[in-house]
Amino acid sequence: MKAGCFLTFEGIDGAGKSTHIDAVAERLRRAGAEIIVTREPGGTALAEQLRELVLGSPMDALTEALLVFAARRDHLSQVIRPALARGACVVCDRFTDSTFAYQGGGRGFDLAVLSALEGWVQQGLQPDLTLWFDLPASVAAQRRSADRAPDRFERMDEAFYERVIEGYRRRALADPVRFVRIDALRPPAEVAAQIAEVLAGRGL
Ligand code: TYD
Repeated sequence: MKAGCFLTFEGIDGAGKSTHIDAVAERLRRAGAEIIVTREPGGTALAEQLRELVLGSPMDALTEALLVFAARRDHLSQVIRPALARGACVVCDRFTDSTFAYQGGGRGFDLAVLSALEGWVQQGLQPDLTLWFDLPASVAAQRRSADRAPDRFERMDEAFYERVIEGYRRRALADPVRFVRIDALRPPAEVAAQIAEVLAGRGL
């Protein structure tokens, strides 16, 4: 298998991506790769602190964007880049497409500013493959677990999530090779089969 791969999982809250992340990591591990499973915002002590702020404290969209990119810079330099450099596979729950979908689409924040921040922070680094779990906002709302307090995003209404989905759609259209749309309405076993097929198709 290819050394050093960077896979990201995307989708609105409740789309079901978390269920499949561990299975993908296990599949890659069986293939003999070193696997790092991580998440954004988060993945380092500093970035996890920034996550607490972003998910818990009221702030405007630019502040959100600056904090998630600050977290991302730390995550990239402390974890992701070193892992890729030694040939590991990084499996990341959310990455910059979330920023374009949530801050750009959901909050309506300036996409050109987000692109500038993306350029500074990532210096051209992009995931090799992004699995986008696409699900209607109304279905995702029903699936979101009721057993824990919703964060700032999970409290948003359906119209917000419609805009987030539109944000993902724009990113997918702009990068059709990197992005693979997963129909998250299908039962988990079918979703898992589609993911396995996609990974096999990419030699993973
Ligand atoms: P998520 O990672 O799905 O965690 P959980 O499953 O524990 O709720 O939630 C993180 C939230 O952060 C999610 O609502 C999307 C939001 N987010 C942004 O708004 N911008 C970003 O750049 C990222 C990475 C996440």
